[in-house]
Amino acid sequence: MSVRTILQYPDKRLRRPGEAVETFDAALEALVDDMAETMYAAPGVGLAAPQIGVSQRIFIIDTASGEDEPSDLRVFINPEITRREGTTVFDEGCLSFPGAREEIERAERVTVRARDVHGHVFELDADGLLAIAIQHENDHLDGRLMIDHLSPLKRRVLHRAMMKRGGAEIAAAQ
Ligand code: NI
Repeated sequence: MSVRTILQYPDKRLRRPGEAVETFDAALEALVDDMAETMYAAPGVGLAAPQIGVSQRIFIIDTASGEDEPSDLRVFINPEITRREGTTVFDEGCLSFPGAREEIERAERVTVRARDVHGHVFELDADGLLAIAIQHENDHLDGRLMIDHLSPLKRRVLHRAMMKRGGAEIAAAQ
């Protein structure tokens, strides 16, 4: 297992839509293990494969990540959100937007159908933080980012903040 580099906005690879997974083999399991190690090291509640430069329809979520609770790792491969109900606003973060928090409106409850790492189909009804995380991570698979949900003004402010941050990191590395 290894910790992969998490791509940060505005890296163009984050905009590339993921392709469906067709082979459920040991290489896929190793990729998911790397994703989990990368997410826990960050730490974060969710991570999508495009965030580590892998354009595939895979994301993982652990809503207990960083808490004192036992881990609750969930793996979603080729997911499809089949039902969305209600609306809710949550202060979201994203490992590709380090330091940013933005209020984003999402469905309050969702049903998702996906495959696990062995290729078995499962269906899950989710609410609360899990429902938010499923919608956020599923967006990554279509190259959609949290900045796309903001008003034009907030989008400009966040874009500028991320550009400034990227510039500071480049300067620090020199
Ligand atoms: Ni994200």
